[in-house]
Amino acid sequence: MPTEPHQLTEPPEPAEPAEPAEPSEPSEPGTFVTPEQIIDDLWAPRATQVLLTAVELDLFSHLAAGARTAEQTAAAAGTAPRGTRHVLDALTALGYLEKRDGAYELTAASRRYLVRDSPAYLGDMCQETRALWEQWPRLTEVVRTGKPTARWEEEATGRAQFPALVSAWFPLSFAAARAAAAALPEETRAGIRRILDVAAGSGAWSIAFALDLPRAQVTTIDHPEVTAVTRSFTERYGVADRYRHLSGNLRTTEFGTGYDLITLGYIVHTEGPRWGPELLRKAYAALRPGGTLLIADMIPDDSRTGPHIPLTFAATDLLLFTRDGDTYTLGEYESWLSAAGFHSVTTHDILAPSPLITATK
Ligand SMILES: C[S@@+](CC[C@H](N)C(=O)[O-])C[C@H]1O[C@@H](n2cnc3c(N)ncnc32)[C@H](O)[C@@H]1O
Repeated sequence: MPTEPHQLTEPPEPAEPAEPAEPSEPSEPGTFVTPEQIIDDLWAPRATQVLLTAVELDLFSHLAAGARTAEQTAAAAGTAPRGTRHVLDALTALGYLEKRDGAYELTAASRRYLVRDSPAYLGDMCQETRALWEQWPRLTEVVRTGKPTARWEEEATGRAQFPALVSAWFPLSFAAARAAAAALPEETRAGIRRILDVAAGSGAWSIAFALDLPRAQVTTIDHPEVTAVTRSFTERYGVADRYRHLSGNLRTTEFGTGYDLITLGYIVHTEGPRWGPELLRKAYAALRPGGTLLIADMIPDDSRTGPHIPLTFAATDLLLFTRDGDTYTLGEYESWLSAAGFHSVTTHDILAPSPLITATK
């Protein structure tokens, strides 16, 4: 057999460098580390998008109204059957629907929270997520530069953005507030006649108490644009005649004195390490001796290792939209509260992202 000429005349090719050895998998069963969490987290926005699309197209409401199959749902929603079927299947896999013999059914949670005419409807919260969505890719730049893209604590931004945001949050705050009103000891509840709802937003925290305590009178503080939203919720719940509103900036508005209960619902986190403790001092001065302060916020554990919602909230929304907002540990709240003069700091495990804190003047 003729030999290839180049094999006679050319020096042999240098040997290929040896392939780096494949890292060997640990042989012990159970020690292999999977990338499952990374894949799950990278897939999470796809799941979120499917949910948002279903809410925007009101697919849950069409199923509640009687649609069963993908074709019926598409006809009711005015959508294309192919996309509708894919979305319904994905919703089934995500646990929002059940599917039997090609027919879809709502789960108890989707019936309660995702059907438009349900009082607990969370569709507005989905819209809030949609509105924030385009901001999130800017986080990398914000972490790099330390400069937020907007500042919720600035009056102009707060007045423009909070009216929609507080309406979206109403069902969650209200559910937690109703549980809180029921959880307070009877002797505390019996002494509540005057309530101050600071950063009232929708009024969710005080409305829950006003419904439970028919003799209670409520004062609210928030930006004027948000106060209009507070008014509409108090009217909806039939308690508006027991409300008065101090519209203005909570950092500069006088609170008054002699309150039996002051609520701080999801406000300390935007106030940061300077204005947060200042707000607690101001609340202390406004309470009567023996009065109760109630704080609802996201609270990470003392070592800041979990749970993830208070920590991811601090790492996203609070970096993007505040100058020095943060989520504070129970230890931090305890030290601020005791420095302000409060005692009997107590936590209450209720339906909220974190336990509620109460403290007594
Ligand atoms: C996250 S929302 C919480 C609303 C409500 N307390 C709740 O828990 O659902 C924060 C509220 O604080 C109000 N707020 C923030 N900074 C404020 C300021 N400097 N003066 C008055 N209101 C302010 C916003 O307008 C908004 O209504």
